[in-house]
Amino acid sequence: MNILLLGSGGREHAIAWKIAQSPRVEKLFIAPGNAGTALVGTNVAIKADDFPAIKEFVVANGVDMVVVGPEDPLVKGVYDYFKHDEALAGVPVIGPSKAGAQLEGSKDFAKAFMGRHAIPTARYKSVTAENLAEGLAFLESLPAPYVLKADGLAAGKGVLILDSLEEAKRELGEMLGGMFGDASRTVVIEEFLDGIECSVFVLTDGKDYKILPVAKDYKRVGEGNVGLNTGGMGAVSPVPFADEAFMAKVESRIIRPTVEGLREEGLDYKGFIFFGLINVKGEPLVIEYNCRMGDPETEVAPVPP
Ligand code: AMP
Ligand code: GLY
Repeated sequence: MNILLLGSGGREHAIAWKIAQSPRVEKLFIAPGNAGTALVGTNVAIKADDFPAIKEFVVANGVDMVVVGPEDPLVKGVYDYFKHDEALAGVPVIGPSKAGAQLEGSKDFAKAFMGRHAIPTARYKSVTAENLAEGLAFLESLPAPYVLKADGLAAGKGVLILDSLEEAKRELGEMLGGMFGDASRTVVIEEFLDGIECSVFVLTDGKDYKILPVAKDYKRVGEGNVGLNTGGMGAVSPVPFADEAFMAKVESRIIRPTVEGLREEGLDYKGFIFFGLINVKGEPLVIEYNCRMGDPETEVAPVPP
């Protein structure tokens, strides 16, 4: 097969490295790729969300399958673009439809989805300028600290965790006023969960799924786990606390209801689901969904026993 991988990060270098090892691969292209992907395939100077240019390349180069690394092209609908184009309809895209990618693209959608399928997650309230008073009342009902999340994509920066109620109320106003542009016109206020996080990944065809090794990333910028959050500074795998008993709960309470929920709601989803989980006294809850693999989690390989 000829395969086109979209993206340009360390995650895409890791995915390209693995794909290139398959004896079934004829040519591997990466758009736009990076210095690492150039070592294992051919970089193509096309942006991952330039759909017409991707189409032209796929048709001209006999690409048989497209693997999508980052969320941006998925949330913008690259899967749907292929599905509804006569010349591209036979080329499978590994990644969900635009509707399925809303699990990552809208935190409000993700929280409501979890509610509909009884998937454990923090208590929350979605707020816009119209129901600000309800949002302020919900904040008052919670103990500190306060978690405010921009509904839309904000490049990993759209979550604020605040210690004082006054500050939380002020920042809520700022977010609704456009602090993260349109992404924060809706804000999800969440109960703070105290625990330790890990990242669980599955690959699904919308019906069955395969669970990939669990990883844990470290997000704070400073030495000793201090300072602002980044997208992830490094990762480990396996994760010591994600033992058999914990993973059995994750699968029965979170993974299976998510895959079944997507199917029941008719959301076309053939791709990766990233469950950002938190372990609160041995019980797993969902902090967030992503519709792709993690970065840096993809780059870390479990050491074979
Ligand atoms: P998110 O983009 O939703 O993954 O949030 C970014 C980070 O904020 C997470 O990785 C957590 O460290 C933290 N966080 C998000 N929601 C909560 C919550 N409800 N309780 C505690 N920490 C949270
Ligand atoms: N490392 C977290 C993420 O990929 O979203």
